[in-house]
Amino acid sequence: MEPFRTIIEPFRIHAVEPIRITSREERAAAIEVAGRNLFALHADDVLIDLLTDSGTGAMSRDQWAAIQHGDESYAGSPSWYTFLEAVQELWPFRHVIPTHQGRAAEKILFSVIGGAGKVIPNNTHFDTTRANVEATGAEAIDLVIPEGRDPSAIHPFKGNVDLEALEALLTARAADVPVVFVTITNNSGGGQPVSLENLRAVRALCDRFGVPLFLDACRFAENAWFIKTREPGQEDRSIPDIVRDMAALADGMTMSAKKDGLANIGGWLAMNDDALADACRNLLILTEGFPTYGGLAGRDLEAIAQGLREVVHEDYLRYRIRSTAYLGEALHAAGVPLVRPFGGHAIYLDARALLPHLPPLQYPGQALAVALYMEGGVRGCEIGTVMFGRHPDGTEAPAAMDLVRLAIPRRTYTQSHIDYVIEVVRRVADRAAELRGLRLVQPEPRSLRHFTARFEPLA
Ligand code: F0G
Repeated sequence: MEPFRTIIEPFRIHAVEPIRITSREERAAAIEVAGRNLFALHADDVLIDLLTDSGTGAMSRDQWAAIQHGDESYAGSPSWYTFLEAVQELWPFRHVIPTHQGRAAEKILFSVIGGAGKVIPNNTHFDTTRANVEATGAEAIDLVIPEGRDPSAIHPFKGNVDLEALEALLTARAADVPVVFVTITNNSGGGQPVSLENLRAVRALCDRFGVPLFLDACRFAENAWFIKTREPGQEDRSIPDIVRDMAALADGMTMSAKKDGLANIGGWLAMNDDALADACRNLLILTEGFPTYGGLAGRDLEAIAQGLREVVHEDYLRYRIRSTAYLGEALHAAGVPLVRPFGGHAIYLDARALLPHLPPLQYPGQALAVALYMEGGVRGCEIGTVMFGRHPDGTEAPAAMDLVRLAIPRRTYTQSHIDYVIEVVRRVADRAAELRGLRLVQPEPRSLRHFTARFEPLA
């Protein structure tokens, strides 16, 4: 494809799903009923759904075919062995524990190794990861490099861990740190990648202080593509080789197969430590299921196994990363403030910069997300003070950034859908000064408030 600039979708459409065009009046009514919380909308009232890239992708012909091979035996299903082989091909950890999604893996792991007095560092905890750490009484600390907190700072690996900060934490409190986590790509920091070099340095610190290293590997293939295209010396390596390098640096992982598993549900927890795996499997049996299916049907295990084979294809990853950047480049050219460089799975609008008249505690990200829905039926997701502003001690403070994430479901929307999204964002940005702030209706939810909170417009 060398002479061509256009990077096409490397697939044809085989089955179509209708989407529904609504009027502005219908959207106004729907968002009112939803309490201005986009999670509370009926998805039929959404035209282009960029709420999440999680479980929303299109499965391939071969994944649907694999589903027909699903074997629903309670124990020792052939589908389990197919799944195990596909996981260990990329992530050769000794123990693989299937779960119904990523947060179930987190819940099990942190129930075993968390607890009061413990502290868990990560480049940036995703919301469910933080919530699962904090639910055990442990403390979740974000240690991304300073560039990773600055939406406009240009750095090829903005998801990297701040090594000095990690060293300082381990020097002071290694005995309280049951695990160091690194999220690849760093979702809450803008879908930014982590370099192999940084992972190696984190590994060296973990070795020095005798602390295990786990990866939150939801978007591992996208991270590997960034390594291949941005990290010196990696350009000629295959994606599976780069993934295995990341695996070799870690002692275990949590995974949501709803992202780079290219599946609609699923996840796993993996590790090398036998005793830890035993403890986790005991909890698995209580809450998820027998260890050869976890929280999944045999057919799901098959779909994930096939998805893992497809997600490391270079044609797919080139299209995936390129089509996300296409949205970012158009909005950047239009002067819309964004997190740059562009992440793998999403474009993050910088609501704090676009709406400087709204202080963070008036939730500029939520105000912007609501406006995008009202304007064109586009659903994004606030990643900011609504999501991260409330602390376990009850206080509220501005999050590091107020972003609106436009997450791109895998293999689902075409370039013309994205061209439409670009028009909608530009129209909202043109009258950004008119947007009003929001107030949370009290009492607000006690945990993960962004999922269920209701909002009222400020006068
Ligand atoms: N870790 C990261 C980095 C994630 O992005 C997610 C989910 C999880 C863990 C939890 O996985 O949903 O399967 O339980 N992220 C989705 C999102 C929900 O929209 O970013 P899960």
